[in-house]
Amino acid sequence: MRHATLRQLKVFEAIARHLSFTRAAEELHLTQPTVSMQIKQLTGTVGMPLFEQIGKRIHLTGAGEALHATCREIFDSIERFEMDVANRKGLKKGHLKLAVITTAKYFIPRALGPFCQRYPGIEVSLKVTNRERVLERLADNLDDLYILGQPPDNLDVVYKPFLENPLVVIARHDHPLAGKRHVTLERVAGEPFLMRESGSGTRMATQRLFDKNRLKINIRMELGSNEAIKQAIVGGLGISVLSRHSLALEGESGPLAVLNVQGFPIERHWYAVYPAGKQLSVVARAFYDYLLSEGRRVAEAGWAAIPESLSRKPLHGLSRPDKAKNAAL
Ligand code: PGA
Repeated sequence: MRHATLRQLKVFEAIARHLSFTRAAEELHLTQPTVSMQIKQLTGTVGMPLFEQIGKRIHLTGAGEALHATCREIFDSIERFEMDVANRKGLKKGHLKLAVITTAKYFIPRALGPFCQRYPGIEVSLKVTNRERVLERLADNLDDLYILGQPPDNLDVVYKPFLENPLVVIARHDHPLAGKRHVTLERVAGEPFLMRESGSGTRMATQRLFDKNRLKINIRMELGSNEAIKQAIVGGLGISVLSRHSLALEGESGPLAVLNVQGFPIERHWYAVYPAGKQLSVVARAFYDYLLSEGRRVAEAGWAAIPESLSRKPLHGLSRPDKAKNAAL
């Protein structure tokens, strides 16, 4: 027996869907005689009639119904295969443009490691800047994906949290408050404070906490980077509030200590965000899914990789299972 060709099945499927030879011919850009010929050959192959004409209308026979269902399965699986190939091609060679807030620079580059190993053909560009700038980039649709410490309330976006980002009070190791328990917020408000620039999400969250407690922050200096703030703390210029992730490499055994202060840590999260109408590229979708499904594991592996000698104490609140409640994603 001869086999049906894919072309014949395509023609048949279109006729069965429209129940019209004319509309199928139009859809497939074929002439009526060609369509009729394809069906004649297909009917010969099957050995049973596929359509019957009752009055002016055509109907599927029992065999026609069964063939129609088979065609749908065949074309669905061909479509799935084509999508899979497109995805593989997209992930083989593609570009990923990320814009992230400054606290996320302590995590996203590390998370990119395993991702780029998995998809070595992908080129990544990473813009690190403060919340306000990231939001501007998002509004202008400049990047594929954005990492924020809080989703915007005035832009229509899709967002999902993928990891905790606790903000903590950091002082020099030999600061009188280091090692003290239950330090009050009033006491911290009296200390010279190193503040991030305006437009920073860390600054916003800190200011909000002090405002809520009707306390004024004693700003000693304004600095535009977390690293500059850490250096200034070491230089003895004051204390500050930073993401706990900013101690990612040195842990709490270096020159910086996390103070135990009422109201802290400020529980924040990192969110993967993109504009609501945006069709994510295959690469961006893969990275988004990767952050959501594997972000935590990558973060935990990162903490585990800090040598004992560098980190006497674990960075509480991030990875220990007993702190899972902090995850509250
Ligand atoms: P930023 O980001 O301080 O760099 O703006 C921190 C945040 O928004 O959580």
